[in-house]
Amino acid sequence: MLTLGIETSCDETAVALVRDGKLLGEKLATQIDVHALFGGVVPEIASREHLRVLPRLFKELLGEHGVAPEDIDNIAVARGPGLLGSLLVGVSFAKSLSLSTGASLVGVNHLWAHLLAPGLVEELVFPAVGLLVSGGHTHTYRIESPLEFDLLGRTLDDAAGEAFDKVAKVLNFPYPGGRFIDELGREAEPDTKLFPRAFIDNPSLDFSFSGLKTAVANYVNKHQELVFEEMADFAAVSALSGERRENLARVCASFNWSVADTLRIKVERALKTAGPVKSLIVAGGVAANSMIRETMAGVADKKRLRLTLPNLSLCTDNGAMIAYAGHLLSKAGYSHSLDLEAIPRGRVVPLDWTVGKNIIQA
Ligand code: KG4
Ligand code: ZN
Repeated sequence: MLTLGIETSCDETAVALVRDGKLLGEKLATQIDVHALFGGVVPEIASREHLRVLPRLFKELLGEHGVAPEDIDNIAVARGPGLLGSLLVGVSFAKSLSLSTGASLVGVNHLWAHLLAPGLVEELVFPAVGLLVSGGHTHTYRIESPLEFDLLGRTLDDAAGEAFDKVAKVLNFPYPGGRFIDELGREAEPDTKLFPRAFIDNPSLDFSFSGLKTAVANYVNKHQELVFEEMADFAAVSALSGERRENLARVCASFNWSVADTLRIKVERALKTAGPVKSLIVAGGVAANSMIRETMAGVADKKRLRLTLPNLSLCTDNGAMIAYAGHLLSKAGYSHSLDLEAIPRGRVVPLDWTVGKNIIQA
């Protein structure tokens, strides 16, 4: 079974082909440079870029692998949560293709796809607890099987990645600033008393990162010498030296520690609540963070769980994860009709598949 995956939920346009659960090829165009100057993703620009780039990526991918549109059995598309205008580009493209070729259509929950992505390179072990940390979401799930996710905890305000990006913005790093904080933070020991670990003194499995973000912003306001006068790039960061570099690295490490340790506390709590599980799966763009990777390795070790932590290219948004999740859904007999809706961030993605019947081919 040949599955095409389409991802346009935020600022990455991506397509991939998965044959029988194995990745055949993928193409990705990031819009990071387009949005960097604005300090965040500008939704209207994002949609226009998807519209411009997606058909070309699709043609190139098929051309490189000698695949004709009619060879595709199943079209998987990220249907939410995400930026509505961006999702509509991918979903409309998927519907048109399904209509013209007769391939079946399946809408994929972008968040589930992040957590299933490592299944492309290793066997996933269920039941699992999943931690999804991305620019828009911080969720924990109990995952019974690739098709059964129970939400345990979620952020009440900012997502972990959003906190990284907002702190980075205060320091005048370009969007998305998480990787800058990660890299510079590696040079210093964290001061674990400098910033709070918010919303941990309660039994809740939910997260809150906005207080931490504000605490860092207040600290930086009082230490303006830490802020880059012009928006920094990697060259500006490597040119930084002496005490200023040490102080900035310490702030980055301390903030990073507060996020990582909050995640540790909540994941350990989720593991207690979820009942017996065999593995811990960590995914999403923020799972690229070195301190968070080490912290989660420590949790899995302590609880004697198998740890699944995808490599960096599978952490951030990509088409392969959508194609793979779509492959699993389709293999289980799930599909969508041409009524498939795009679901914006903040709304629960419905489980509205048709099971066992392929509407397009029927
Ligand atoms: O999953 P993703 O690619 O997009 C969403 O679905 O949101 O995640 C993007 C997020 C951004 O907030 C970015 O700053 C963050 O992942 N990120 C990192 C690192 N690499 C990417 N955050 C911390 N450390 C990193 N190394
Ligand atoms: Zn994502």
